[in-house]
Amino acid sequence: MTNSEKLSRRDFINLVGTGGAALLLSACLPKGEVITSNAVTATPFTDKGGEPDIEISLRAVADNVQILTGEKTQVWRYQGEVTRGPDNALIVIQDSYLGPIFNVQTGQTIRVHFSNELPESSIVHWHGLHVPVSADGHPRLAIDPGESYIYDFTVADRAGMYWYHPHPHGRTGTQVYAGMAGLFIIHDENEFALELPSGDYDLPIVLQDRIFDENNQLVYGGNGMMDQMMGFLGDQLLINGQADFSLTVETRPYRLRLLNGSNSRIYKLAWDDGTPLTVIGTDGGLLEKPVMREYITLAPAQRIELWVDFSSDEIGAERNLVNLPFSAYGGTSDYQVLPVKIEKAVQVAASLPEKLSSIAAHDINQAVNRRSPRAIEMAMGMGMRWSLNGRTFEMETVADDEIVKLGNLEVWEFINRTGSGMGMMNETLPHPMHVHGLQYQIVEREVGASGRDVWESLKDGFVDEGWHDTVLVLPGERVKIALKFEDFTGLYLYHCHNLEHEDMGMMRNYRVDV
Ligand code: C2O
Ligand code: CU
Ligand code: CU
Repeated sequence: MTNSEKLSRRDFINLVGTGGAALLLSACLPKGEVITSNAVTATPFTDKGGEPDIEISLRAVADNVQILTGEKTQVWRYQGEVTRGPDNALIVIQDSYLGPIFNVQTGQTIRVHFSNELPESSIVHWHGLHVPVSADGHPRLAIDPGESYIYDFTVADRAGMYWYHPHPHGRTGTQVYAGMAGLFIIHDENEFALELPSGDYDLPIVLQDRIFDENNQLVYGGNGMMDQMMGFLGDQLLINGQADFSLTVETRPYRLRLLNGSNSRIYKLAWDDGTPLTVIGTDGGLLEKPVMREYITLAPAQRIELWVDFSSDEIGAERNLVNLPFSAYGGTSDYQVLPVKIEKAVQVAASLPEKLSSIAAHDINQAVNRRSPRAIEMAMGMGMRWSLNGRTFEMETVADDEIVKLGNLEVWEFINRTGSGMGMMNETLPHPMHVHGLQYQIVEREVGASGRDVWESLKDGFVDEGWHDTVLVLPGERVKIALKFEDFTGLYLYHCHNLEHEDMGMMRNYRVDV
């Protein structure tokens, strides 16, 4: 391998260290020039005279990137350019197929010109964001090759790490696998005031598993029906699109933001030296206060934010974030996820705030259906297809029980029916259930006798506090969530975020009516 063939992870870190383009998430947003308080209110920017704060052109293109030594790998990816607003509204991750990181503030107005230069139809979905239907990337809005789509929306969500990916029906798994995904990071006033580690010390970590053939090309769907029914599992872990990623750190605190960007793999993450993990955020941003876990269960599409303090580690020492085995699908082996080398001694008096944010708990006594939660049963249905309440995806249709009312707070209950359909297969298969257009709260979990093994092996890693857009529902488990339908009406989606399940139709519309 020559130097030009592949940037080592040292080079990657150096790029960050020298103030290069990579991964400077918040360094460029010093306090003082942050959002004014009126900007925090989400006003449609047509009211501001039609000029968005940030305008971005985003292309979906085929490209070749260096992932492994030797042949480049053909990928599909997002490329972006800021045409209005601060240059750092997009941050490119060097030597990665991942799309540019959107780096924005609550209250900003955004226009994205998306052009599809792929050989098939596509559409962008902003995962976790509270945006109008016109900006949600529903598959019925997918555009053909050569076409473009304009997204207009106000950043209404709290500070946190969200993400974007394609959503054309039946092809989401394929396109994400080919490389189409990027992070969407939001900052807000509350977050700035906390003075959490920023810039070089605020690092995104995107976990994805892949299979490469002998020519370094991505392999997808090689197991046919099995992949589709269970979900794709790769044999090579990529972090931020790189095969050989590690961190070199200083003796000080870091903020690590993890996204499980895998199609179906679940991770059970822990430090190999037994240090517990300090969690500060979930899908929908910062928790009220930090929580500790021995390990973290991270399902596809979920994000977790960690505070990691290396200040008492020794110089030259190594710590590894590893995956522990568990009893569900994909959990057979333990492997290294993220090696961290402690390299430089510094004195930094940064401490973790005891209070991180305020979260108003949904009061489920106020839920319109508190006595009869909307039940969503997951099972293997006719023709060996995963279904929700016995139905699979229909592009334009909603059933009577999939209509909700604007302004209402509801309780939904996801029910993973163990023993139905494929027997064994079903019994080790959790489903990460995602709802579009909002963040919800997890109210309670209940596990039946049949799901005990899986439950015991993963439950201590759940972080149910805070805001979520995706929740893992284990075999035999029922999970209640509280969701409020605000601001926007129209057709949104709820689905399993195991992308093979989703593509097979384990997805439905729900409609918000006035
Ligand atoms: Cu990342 Cu429809 O979702
Ligand atoms: Cu989504
Ligand atoms: Cu599923």
